[in-house]
Amino acid sequence: MMARRFRLRPLPSDDENWWEDSNPAIDRREFMRHSFNTAAGVITMASLGSIGFASLLMGTADSSGGDSAVRFWVPTGAEDSAWYGDRHLEPMNYSAFVDAAANSGTGMSGAQGVWSGMPVNVVYVPHEENVSKAATTNVPRFQFMDGYNESGKYIGSGYELEENPDYASLSIHDNLILIFSRCTHLCCIPGWQLVQNDFTNDQWTPGAVDAGGNKLFCICHSSRFDPTAIEKNRSRNRSSGAEFDFVGIRRTGGPAPYGLPLIPWVKSGDIIEALPDFIDWYTYCD
Ligand code: FES
Repeated sequence: MMARRFRLRPLPSDDENWWEDSNPAIDRREFMRHSFNTAAGVITMASLGSIGFASLLMGTADSSGGDSAVRFWVPTGAEDSAWYGDRHLEPMNYSAFVDAAANSGTGMSGAQGVWSGMPVNVVYVPHEENVSKAATTNVPRFQFMDGYNESGKYIGSGYELEENPDYASLSIHDNLILIFSRCTHLCCIPGWQLVQNDFTNDQWTPGAVDAGGNKLFCICHSSRFDPTAIEKNRSRNRSSGAEFDFVGIRRTGGPAPYGLPLIPWVKSGDIIEALPDFIDWYTYCD
């Protein structure tokens, strides 16, 4: 049985001050600075000229949330192809991922999202059902792996997610993870099955190899990330050069130097809500 390990949080009210009230240590404006609403982010994406993905530019504060709910984000052009295509900016509900997974070959599902103006991906993996089975193709589960930085230096193990109390809120639960989705190469937005190729097909290969499908794929320069491979790694702020360790998913290929950080989340009723426990991890593109 899937265990819910975290306390439920109340649904956010319509109160504009909800964020500050709930997170007194965090200035919302400061938090949004880390989002995709920054001028630098707009310039980066505008210069790419990628039709469709350019629409991933996060909109106004009104449309980008600012509360704890994670919302679906449907890129222009994906309205008819993504299973969540008619749900742009609606709060994500957990059961939608379970339903979508039931219609996939691997039992996985995923979607683009936005949380407080930041691009995210949500990926459902039938881990609880498969963890005791043999690790064979198309029987996906989460894999805890060793993480190495760009120089090949060992940074730590994905198992720290379960063993280090500092990461308690990140402990995987309910077969679902929330991923911060700015590419560690040049800060584009890796997507879930928004383009079709061997890396994005509904397919799973054990071992976090750079083959098989269901990778998060960055259309800008084709970096790939395995959302089932949990590792510890080291990231660097592009402006200051400051380094910090994070727990996230593994980069399997392309020019991205390392993977993408996880975001802790809870189920509030059926709604997927994110927790701002590790906001420093999401600042590398500032
Ligand atoms: S920005 Fe993602 S591969 Fe270059």
